Amino acid sequence: MKRRMISLFAIITAVFCGCSGFLNAKSTAEEAEQTNYTYTIQDAVNLQDFLLNRSTQENLNGKPYDMDHDGVWDVFDLCLMKRELTIPSESESDTLVVYFSRTNNTEKIAEHIIDLTNADRYEIEAAVPYTDADIRYQDSDCRANKEQNDKTVRPEIAEPIESIDSYEVVFIGYPIWWGEEPRIIDTFLESYDFSDKTVIPFCTSGGSGISASEKNIADLVPIGNQFAGKRFSANATESEVESWLKEINIMKENAEEKLYLTINDTKISATFENNSSADALKEKLSEGDVVIEAHDYGNFEKVGSLGFTLPRNDTQITTESGDLILYQGNQFVVYYDENSWNFTKLGHVDNMTQEELKALLGDGNVTITLSLK
Ligand SMILES: Cc1cc2nc3c(=O)[nH]c(=O)nc-3n(C[C@H](O)[C@H](O)[C@H](O)COP(=O)(O)O)c2cc1C
Repeated sequence: MKRRMISLFAIITAVFCGCSGFLNAKSTAEEAEQTNYTYTIQDAVNLQDFLLNRSTQENLNGKPYDMDHDGVWDVFDLCLMKRELTIPSESESDTLVVYFSRTNNTEKIAEHIIDLTNADRYEIEAAVPYTDADIRYQDSDCRANKEQNDKTVRPEIAEPIESIDSYEVVFIGYPIWWGEEPRIIDTFLESYDFSDKTVIPFCTSGGSGISASEKNIADLVPIGNQFAGKRFSANATESEVESWLKEINIMKENAEEKLYLTINDTKISATFENNSSADALKEKLSEGDVVIEAHDYGNFEKVGSLGFTLPRNDTQITTESGDLILYQGNQFVVYYDENSWNFTKLGHVDNMTQEELKALLGDGNVTITLSLK
């Protein structure tokens, strides 16, 4: 959620404090620097003190505080700076691609994943960067080799990401070093809580597979759901990455959305019908699961109230086992046998025989939970 707040203090300051400081025109280089500058609370304090003519210990020469580029530091700059400080990250993605890449091969794969999933990016960089000599693996004494020989080494990360709480899915990419993940990946994993995350490892290598590193990752920290990882060659194309993402059903915008029915602790999937009734049901389920207390009717169906009304697309249908039907706009029906009536098809249960479905539904009343996950 984006919050756009200008703090009360800044507004009061803007109204009551009329003083301003005049600056010399800035050079283009300084302005360019300003575009990438990340403001801190200390910057706001510095500017505030400057505007109030309070002495400051800070040397403010060259500070990019002319937020509105009018050649003057004034209260409007303070307002703009405070607004920048109070607007949190604009990201709305639930997917993060984290990677470590010393010679940029893994980075290229990470970029394909980011492009294809609209994920956010975080590159792990070492506090003490790896030099070429550090990764010269032919030299048995090089830093990378020494680190890989000691499972307890945890190289420090330069700028750790503050939190991964807002992400559900975290891709983790790395080069294979001596058959395993570089130890800095272990530093990353041990720094956050993955117990409710889906973690998807990927790597590049000269030929070695991903399995040893996958096992290390699984053993190192609790992970909610770890997907089988994927090894790519250094020159893998975007379409190879795309095929993999489709295989694991992670390209959400392209993936077919499924309906799930939980019946007596067993979750089965179904395919939605292509109509406005099914779309409305998806919409409803995106707000939360729907629980239906269903009873048996006519020895061919389980039926129960949805508790809300969906648009109808009624037509004469002869049902088959597995059909999911909307009856009178507000009843959800699972058919396990034939019936002909004028009603709306919402979908069909995937890959279940009539016997399997009947056995799952049982004889009498049954609770059916509908969900999108
Ligand atoms: C210290 C070190 C050890 C390596 N060990 C292996 C290995 O065991 N198996 C392998 O196939 N490739 C190995 N490689 C090659 C890298 O995995 C490969 O070049 C990778 O694509 C580099 O990724 P990057 O550019 O993202 O750093 C090693 C490279 C280095 C620097």
